[in-house]
Amino acid sequence: MKIVDGVEWLGVTDWNIRDFHGYETRKGTTYNSYLVRGEKAAVIDAVKKPFAKQLIASIEEKISLDEVDYVVSNHAEPDHSGALPELLAALPNAELLSDAKCAPTLEKYWGVKARAVADGERLVLGGGKTLRFIETPMLHWPDSMFTYLEEDQILFSMDAFGQHVACSERFADQYSGALNEAAKYYANIVMPFAAVALRVLDGLRGVPIKTICPSHGLVWRGDDVERVASAYASWANGVAQERAVIIYDSMWGSTERLAQAIAEELPVPYRLMRIRDNDLAEMMAEVLQSKYLFVGSPTLNNGPLPAAAAFLTYLRGLRPKAKKGFAFGSRGWGGGALNAVKQAFELGGVELVGEFECDYRASSENEKELKQKVASLFSTKQKPRIVKLGKNANF
Ligand code: FEO
Repeated sequence: MKIVDGVEWLGVTDWNIRDFHGYETRKGTTYNSYLVRGEKAAVIDAVKKPFAKQLIASIEEKISLDEVDYVVSNHAEPDHSGALPELLAALPNAELLSDAKCAPTLEKYWGVKARAVADGERLVLGGGKTLRFIETPMLHWPDSMFTYLEEDQILFSMDAFGQHVACSERFADQYSGALNEAAKYYANIVMPFAAVALRVLDGLRGVPIKTICPSHGLVWRGDDVERVASAYASWANGVAQERAVIIYDSMWGSTERLAQAIAEELPVPYRLMRIRDNDLAEMMAEVLQSKYLFVGSPTLNNGPLPAAAAFLTYLRGLRPKAKKGFAFGSRGWGGGALNAVKQAFELGGVELVGEFECDYRASSENEKELKQKVASLFSTKQKPRIVKLGKNANF
């Protein structure tokens, strides 16, 4: 699959993967590898170990294996490095390149030795193909690096700008909803590193980019480059829509009644998501795009229900930016769940703007009180505005 003259996609499509280290990948994923051919040839990134033979066969369809001079590893995580031992064994003349942090990690994982390249170092392949290496530490591992193809202005961005999508299309402009998939990917993988993402985006100012080739999913080209870069800047800055997500679990229906009461009162668009019926990745995509986050659980054994506890652990690790949080739930003779929600908010950087807890069954009085609390969060928005028409108003 040609990206531009001399640059081809070599990746593999993992149609049936549904659990990517806990991230539910309902649409599968791809592990993208690229071949850059000038006078010399480089393979950029490998694939997951079980697909090594498939990658080698793809290379062999395009070029003799002994003509590959370099393999660039932008990132040591095994979904991109697992095939390296078999790949390097099949490429007799290839030198493995990575950044200085990646090299020891690759050796620990796979026993392969890489030559470390420096930030900004250039590798002239000849024939109008020059690679430049750009270190991007902690996006999202210490070893992360971009490779930039200067003449074609292509950024090989490893996980950044990626999406977990398995499809036959190769470019984002051929696939409906690529940006939503990128948002979900950002929410679940990149979100804790928002400050790094902003720094990297800042470092790319002045670097002309026509195409972004991530290591998962679809390739961004044309106007989509600016679209996805702007979206990343918004997400990393914590810009969210005036909407809400209500995420809850329930034992005997009481916390669910509270969740529904919240929904009935919200003056903004919302999603109601019972934790056991939704996967973590989907819920975090909603959290990313919503300004208001309501989280509820009843108390069980002095804490939240197990599924709610898992969500809270995930939430606090991903540290969403600029969220307004509301904790709610029901309890019997002892509490604990509400505090767990509030603690997760605190550790995850979510601003607590309200809380509500009822005993045993949620009564209509409880619902009324909760609705008043919810309404008060939006009270300035609910007041009718008196608009003074100027003398040129045209109605
Ligand atoms: Fe796709 Fe961080 O690995």
